[in-house]
Amino acid sequence: MCGIIGYSGSFCAQKILLDGLEQLEYRGYDSAGVALLDDQGELFLQKKAGRVSVLRKACEAAPVKSRCGIGHTRWATHGGVTDANAHPHSCGQVTLIHNGIIENYHEITAAFGFQDRLHSETDTEVAACLLDHLYRGNPFETLKKAVDILVGSYAFCILFKDRPGQIFCIRNVSPLVAAQGEAGSFVASDLTALIAHSRSYFVVPEKTVMTLSADRITLLDLNGQTMEPECLTVDWNVESAQKGGYPHFMIKEINEQPQAMENTVRPRLFNGLPDFREEGVEDSLFLDCETITIVACGTAMYAGMVGKAIIEQILHIPVAVHIASEFRYDTPLINEKTLTIVISQSGETIDTLAALRLAKECGSRTLAIVNVKGSTIARESDYVLYTHAGPEIAVASTKAYIVQLAVLYLLTGRIALLRGIFTEKQAKEFMDTLLSASSSIAQVIQKDEAIKKAVKAVKHSDHAFFIGRGLDYAFSLEGALKLKEISYIHAEAYAAGELKHGTIALIEKNTPVIALATQEKIFAKTISNIREVRARGASVILIVKENAQVDPDVYDIRIDLPVRQDEFAVFTAAATLQLLAYYTSDAKGLNVDKPRNLAKSVTVE
Ligand code: G6P
Repeated sequence: MCGIIGYSGSFCAQKILLDGLEQLEYRGYDSAGVALLDDQGELFLQKKAGRVSVLRKACEAAPVKSRCGIGHTRWATHGGVTDANAHPHSCGQVTLIHNGIIENYHEITAAFGFQDRLHSETDTEVAACLLDHLYRGNPFETLKKAVDILVGSYAFCILFKDRPGQIFCIRNVSPLVAAQGEAGSFVASDLTALIAHSRSYFVVPEKTVMTLSADRITLLDLNGQTMEPECLTVDWNVESAQKGGYPHFMIKEINEQPQAMENTVRPRLFNGLPDFREEGVEDSLFLDCETITIVACGTAMYAGMVGKAIIEQILHIPVAVHIASEFRYDTPLINEKTLTIVISQSGETIDTLAALRLAKECGSRTLAIVNVKGSTIARESDYVLYTHAGPEIAVASTKAYIVQLAVLYLLTGRIALLRGIFTEKQAKEFMDTLLSASSSIAQVIQKDEAIKKAVKAVKHSDHAFFIGRGLDYAFSLEGALKLKEISYIHAEAYAAGELKHGTIALIEKNTPVIALATQEKIFAKTISNIREVRARGASVILIVKENAQVDPDVYDIRIDLPVRQDEFAVFTAAATLQLLAYYTSDAKGLNVDKPRNLAKSVTVE
């Protein structure tokens, strides 16, 4: 949420910042801006409401020769989407960009009398005023004092007018990574902006003053002690963060799912059996726990819902799934007998991170399922299992969901084996079926005619309902989220048996109902619920296993999933629902990869 980048080196900073902001734009795209400081200490500021392309145009009309600067792409929190509210914000000697929220900005404004100095509605400008107020020519001392005053989350990159060629950074919670490349020193919210310049990087430690100069990066803790960063190496290449010939990142990422599944599952199989010990995840974690709590946000939370269904069905361990933003302020009923699993693509979602910290405080052992290496959640969790999806750029999550599920299935297999629920033979079969899900996903992607037909039934509608029971209900939650977030069609998922307690009142002639009926055990019940909506005029898109016998009266469009085992239907169902959302959004001419009001990485509460 909000992308930030800073550069000091020997090349044109304006170009490097604009290129970096384009890579970071998925973190927020309400407005963008850059500030450049030349060798004489003259500051050039350019900021615009709208996409980075708007900023680029303005910058190209007024090129600046500077080798040091900062850039920001915003996801608005405090104050509307205007040029004035766009970052960078300047006050006196200070110009800065910020990701996060300064919670006590009203108090700071009142305490220091900044009211007349502010030109925007943002919390960030207050921080700029505060730093300018504290500044006596020593950036380190200024930031040290500011840390005691600022409450909230922040990653700041700061230019002081009398320090040409230098960028000062400090963070609390909000992410920042940095790298020293051949072209100079870089700092950014995430790796996508750095990868073109360096394969080696480090995570900026919290509450540490980092100084970027053209030829070096230094870190000082708040006691003034020099710190050595722990260097990491990027394990994906520039191409994986580019569209590679696809019209959108989302469809590229949907197509990458079979490979992502392979990368996530195969290295964890030993003689066909799942094992995490090589990754440092001890079996005692699974043997000692009495209950499991899963905490996550958005799509990751919906992956958790499927995990709950599958774990309870196979392992008979009670699983509670919590929305992280609720969990962190609720009464956490967890203890040392609870295994808390946090799921996050980015590893930076602030509510999930807070939930993880709370779980640890309660004595629970914590296991993170994370895609981004070295991210805060990965580092703070007791144990981590990485998903190997590679960078996910489209705001709507697809491949990250699939591999989160894959890890939950691997975990289920391991626990079943350890607890004697599966024999080795059964565990191997379970894993073979999991592996074969990747080729089934590929089949769905290749044979998408029925899905495209369904798009026609959905795209002109204002509302759509997704129904299913049991596991089907768990998948439909994610299906509805995908459709609403990128096509702006109001889409809701309901447990099929619950419809008649209210929601069926919303069904009218031609209301699209996407009905999932992949589970044998409750198949007949789901079909009865489908008949109920059809009797009220719904246009039914039925999603079933390819061998299912269904009366053609029940549906308008039938989509067959190439799957035989009920427990594994989620993989093909997910790919189907992702494609339905993708083609609908595209058919409506919307911005598939950057839907309105959303951002990929949510680092504010
Ligand atoms: C945002 C993204 C979603 C994602 C959610 C949780 O809302 O748009 O795609 O599922 O955050 O993100 P995480 O990185 O924690 O999985």
